[in-house]
Parts: sequence; structure tokens; C-alpha cells
Amino acid sequence: MAEHTAFEPDFDISRPTIARVYDALLGGKDNFAPDREGAAAYLKHVPNAGDCAKDNRAALVKGVQYMANKGIDQFLDIGAGLPTMENTHQVAQAVNPGAKVVYVDNDPIVLAHGRALLATNDSTTVVTADLRDPQGILDHPEVKEMLDFTRPIGLMFVGLHMHFHDNEGADEWVRLIMDACPSGSYLFITDFVDTGEPLQKSIEQAGLESLGNGWIRTPERITEHFLGLPLVPPGLDFLARWFPEEPDKEVPAPEELEPHQRILMGGIGYKA
Ligand SMILES: C[S@@+](CC[C@H](N)C(=O)[O-])C[C@H]1O[C@@H](n2cnc3c(N)ncnc32)[C@H](O)[C@@H]1O
Repeated sequence: MAEHTAFEPDFDISRPTIARVYDALLGGKDNFAPDREGAAAYLKHVPNAGDCAKDNRAALVKGVQYMANKGIDQFLDIGAGLPTMENTHQVAQAVNPGAKVVYVDNDPIVLAHGRALLATNDSTTVVTADLRDPQGILDHPEVKEMLDFTRPIGLMFVGLHMHFHDNEGADEWVRLIMDACPSGSYLFITDFVDTGEPLQKSIEQAGLESLGNGWIRTPERITEHFLGLPLVPPGLDFLARWFPEEPDKEVPAPEELEPHQRILMGGIGYKA
């Protein structure tokens, strides 16, 4: 694993964090009592919230496999979360053994746990940085050392946009980073969707109660996250149906999905 700058973990365990609540929903062990209370708030409003988190992870695996099979061997995974079963570097390196992966998260616990996971992996690193400072991510020494911005990059924001209110301007932060990626790069995003269903409203309510964020958005608004890039087939879709590796695969109609399977949508944009 690459060298890290000196970093003193400073965990405030008195309040829930997104990374740890999500870990609790996935059945992980890297969380504390307030995080489990946050997860309980999700489960109170959306009893299948754990399945939503698993669907999101399954989509992450499919998206990374798709990009890796297209020849992408550099990934910048922003809002990476705590290590879990199949992580971006494991999926990418199973396809391209030399694939480089940089995980970025603003929660220091991700770095602490990522270090342990990556102790023997020279092609992967974790940095603590905030999407709110996108130039800071591009200028980070480990990002610059690990990734070659003259070659295509798989840029990932999986399960991150919902944590920013629309008036924060997250699309412009993403644009700054995407602008630094050359043609041939991909932009992979998943987000909470609002198609007018009560359970979608419930997940927003759970997030606002437990974390103070976690907004839902219309598919049209989610499409704007892709900055005008064309989406690879099948385009933006509910994650439970979304299958970029086999876009022609037969999938259930949206109305055949369970309501909790209509909470998350995702897609992959391509920079020609
Ligand atoms: C719901 S988790 C998603 C984790 C992983 N990408 C996945 O889909 O399984 C969102 C992650 O984004 C991180 N995050 C939230 N705000 C962030 C920010 N401003 N900059 C970087 N990471 C952030 C959280 O700490 C958390 O780990």
C-alpha cells in the first residue's frame, strides 16, 4: 500500500456517521451504538433498508465489472465507505490484476479500516478528503501518485449524492473532477429516487431523522448528475433492474419490483 501522510484518527462516536450507519445496515461490525440507532431509524421507516444497501453494493460490483471489462484500470471511488464483502479494488483487480484504485472518503474511520484491508496491496490506497473540495482531491499527493489523468478513469460516486442537498451544488464538484479525466473515462452514480412513491419519501424521512441528510430526487434531476454525458445501456434505471454488463437481459418491469427495490437508481456516463 502507498505511504500515507501522518493522520490522527479522531472519531466522534457520540453521533452517527453515514459510513457507519451504512455499515450497520449492511450487517458490518465497524459501527457504534448511535450508528445502530441511526440504522434502526432507517429500518423503522423502511423495513427492507438493509436490502436497499445490499442492492447498492450489488450495483457497485456490476458497475465496476462493466468498466473493468471495458479496459478501465484506474478507479477513483469517492464516498467509498467502509470496506465490506466485495470492494472496488477486489472487483477491478479480478478483471485487471494491475488495476489501480483510490478510495476517497471524508470519514476518517474509512482510512483506518481501509489500511488494514489494503496492507499488502500496492495498487490501492485510501485517502481522507471531501468532495466539497474537489480540487483538494485532484491535488492530493496519493491521488496524483496512483492515477494517471492522461489515461481513462472510472470515476465513482456510488450512494453519495443523496447526502448533499441540491442547493449545495454537488454536480459542479463532480464536474471539476470529471473535467480532469480524459475521454474514454466513465462516471458511475447511484442515488435515491423520487417517482412519487410513499416508501421513497420514508427513506428520506429516515435519513433526515438519523443523519440530517439523505434526499430523494426525480429521475430527471438524477440524470443531470451525469453532466450531459451519454449513459451506457440500459441508461438510468432502478438498481434491482440495472445490468450494464447485459443490457438486453430480461428484467422485471418496474411495477413488478418490490417497493423497496424502487428506492435507488443508477447509471454510468461515458466521456467520448
Ligand atoms: C452510503 S455510503 C456509500 C458507500 C459506498 N460507496 C457504497 O455505495 O457502498 C456514503 C459514503 O460517502 C461518504 N461521504 C459523505 N459525504 C462525503 C463527502 N463530502 N466527501 C467524501 N465522502 C463523503 C460517507 O462517509 C460514506 O462512507
